[in-house]
Amino acid sequence: MKTILITGCSSGFGLEIARYFLDRDWKVVATMRRPREDVLPHSEHLRVLALDVTDPENIRQAVEAAGPIDVLVNNAGFGAASPVEATSMATVRELFETNTFGTMAVTQAVLPQFRQRRAGVVVNVTSSVTLKSIPLLASYTASKAAVNAFTESMALELKQFGVRACLVLPGRSPETRFGDNARSHTQGLDHEAYVDLVKSLFARFAEPGPITHARDVAEAVWRAATDPLRIPAGADAEAWAAEAH
Ligand SMILES: NC(=O)c1ccc[n+]([C@@H]2O[C@H](COP(=O)([O-])OP(=O)(O)OC[C@H]3O[C@@H](n4cnc5c(N)ncnc54)[C@H](OP(=O)(O)O)[C@@H]3O)[C@@H](O)[C@H]2O)c1
Repeated sequence: MKTILITGCSSGFGLEIARYFLDRDWKVVATMRRPREDVLPHSEHLRVLALDVTDPENIRQAVEAAGPIDVLVNNAGFGAASPVEATSMATVRELFETNTFGTMAVTQAVLPQFRQRRAGVVVNVTSSVTLKSIPLLASYTASKAAVNAFTESMALELKQFGVRACLVLPGRSPETRFGDNARSHTQGLDHEAYVDLVKSLFARFAEPGPITHARDVAEAVWRAATDPLRIPAGADAEAWAAEAH
């Protein structure tokens, strides 16, 4: 029986990935900043561990407590919509601390066991905004694009050990807590110079069209356990990926 460790399982994609793998008889180590057993079905194959990906000691403890794992999913992350000139450097640093450096740090903590066993998969969840840019998300996009570059280079160096690294790029998913969680990091959307751009972007989001469901992302992560780099998740992300190639 294989084991998967997932970051950011309190809601959204992480929660659905955990459910999806539990349903397929994997052992799941669901990690959360504030551990809650009640968000997932009761299962002898489930362990919920505390993990804030910005806390090095927390990472060390969680990886040690998890024991041997076969797949790591770096899913924890958040967004922030802001014009570049109105985004505080504190927010830029927070985005990178979680989305980029958190992903790198958890990966580093897991790699020695993967290399020694000559097996293992790292799945990094980034975003379809790295395939096709949209305005007001420059810092978020940069934090995720850095993970793409990190993952693609790392995949080359790990190949010799039989360890794989993949990217899953979800499209826009209004059904997770992403929007709510982004709100507290959002700055300057009322800046008079950007009001029209903000209006047109939110109007575009409100138009009917394809979106990504958490289930799409869980399926993509499932595929990533056997398939290579950059797997778009959701009809909208697939369309963007097709345009980008
Ligand atoms: N929804 C979208 O439109 C979309 C599109 C493309 C990519 N993504 C990416 O998909 C991933 C999951 O997002 P989601 O849509 O499922 O949003 P979500 O419902 O807000 O879930 C994000 C998860 O990340 C966790 N998290 C945030 N900071 C953390 C930290 N420092 N340490 C550990 N966990 C942390 C949150 O935990 P707390 O409950 O403790 O805050 C939550 O469990 C993110 O990386 C996001 O950037 C989302």
